[in-house]
Amino acid sequence: MERLRVLLLGGGGREHALAWKLAQSPRLEWLLAAPGNPGIAGLGMVEPGLDILDGKAVARFARDRGIDLVVVGPEAPLAAGVADACRAAGIAVFGPSAAAARLEASKGFTKELCDEAGIPTARWARFSALEPARAHVRAHGAPIVVKADGLAAGKGVTVAATLAEAEDALEALFRAPGAEVVIEEWLEGEEVSVFVLADGTAALPLLAAQDHKRVGEGDTGPNTGGMGAYAPASVFTPALEAETMARIIRPTLTALAARGTPFSGVLFAGLMLTAAGPKLIEYNVRFGDPECQVLMLLLESDLLDLLHATATGRLAGMTATWKPGRALGVVVAARGYPGTPASGGVIEGLEGCGATVFHAGTRLEGGRLVAAGGRVLTVGAVAPTLAAAAGTVGAAISKISFADALWRRDIGWRELAREGKGDRS
Ligand code: AMP
Ligand code: GLY
Repeated sequence: MERLRVLLLGGGGREHALAWKLAQSPRLEWLLAAPGNPGIAGLGMVEPGLDILDGKAVARFARDRGIDLVVVGPEAPLAAGVADACRAAGIAVFGPSAAAARLEASKGFTKELCDEAGIPTARWARFSALEPARAHVRAHGAPIVVKADGLAAGKGVTVAATLAEAEDALEALFRAPGAEVVIEEWLEGEEVSVFVLADGTAALPLLAAQDHKRVGEGDTGPNTGGMGAYAPASVFTPALEAETMARIIRPTLTALAARGTPFSGVLFAGLMLTAAGPKLIEYNVRFGDPECQVLMLLLESDLLDLLHATATGRLAGMTATWKPGRALGVVVAARGYPGTPASGGVIEGLEGCGATVFHAGTRLEGGRLVAAGGRVLTVGAVAPTLAAAAGTVGAAISKISFADALWRRDIGWRELAREGKGDRS
């Protein structure tokens, strides 16, 4: 068996989950993560000093260490061309080129591609000045959606219930010089996060998950990167998956290949399941966080096999198998998130809490683990039912303590209600 040395880029909860699953692979020789985090440090080596946005530096580092596969976790290195630099240096890399990463980096790019390929998505218009944008929202009325055109970690979006909210959002965005703003029709329905591996030719759908983007219970308050997730999502039936592959994912992959920029990596489609069928809200070109954590908890197959096959164009004929049951993950953030989070609270009680804990914003300080970010931990579990998984996670969180911890106690509420009614389609 060929054993592989893996360099994992990133240091959040998503990367800890990837590291956790990679570490279970018999094909892993060793794992090195940059910058990593204290959780990942328990599974491999960490290299906090590498500039993961510098493609040349990453490729040189990977060559010097004899790395066989670079796995790129977050979007920023992808948009900066780190995967291109690795490929140019002959190193296998899991993650798309900068050209294909525009699917996430530029909302305008994706919208144009959708229009060209006939992919169902919200109607939209792009503006580079405040006054025409304001006129557009006044003409269309609320609810309406206002987005910054660029990478904003899910936080550059205002779903405005009123005209005043929409206009406030426009004014705030246009305060930045050179701002580009996309205004969209509001889509009504339930959201799902769909993940598909693609190697430039073949595509392999993974499970669909659902996350909770709002910071507050009952899905209220500002948007965040995600406060919790669960999988599989029963609303995403096999028929919806087939429709999504046929009408959204495959046309996107075909359009990118036709432009000479084939997509290789994981394509994450944020969909709205509307009365008129699934519509694309946005693409991301990496795993979701915290969706990745629940997918990794459920994945039965060898993750290293899947990522390496994706990176080397050998995905055709591969399958992904999943554990039975359902996974739920709850993000424990620091008070203040998604604004300025409190930091420095000492974290205790992780050991033996009874669930799987992935680190995101943590740091070791004088031998003690402290909170050092907005999203600090994801606490997750797999169980035969979502209710049982939620019970395990809730009990685990009650054993974990740090000052100013903030988490939602209602993650999975929609699905838990469906499960309670015995509707587990
Ligand atoms: P995005 O960063 O584009 O994913 O937007 C963040 C969140 O805003 C999404 O996950 C949705 O919850 C919401 N959102 C974005 N676009 C729309 C839309 N056109 N209609 C309704 N909700 C939306
Ligand atoms: N949880 C959504 C994201 O990773 O963008």
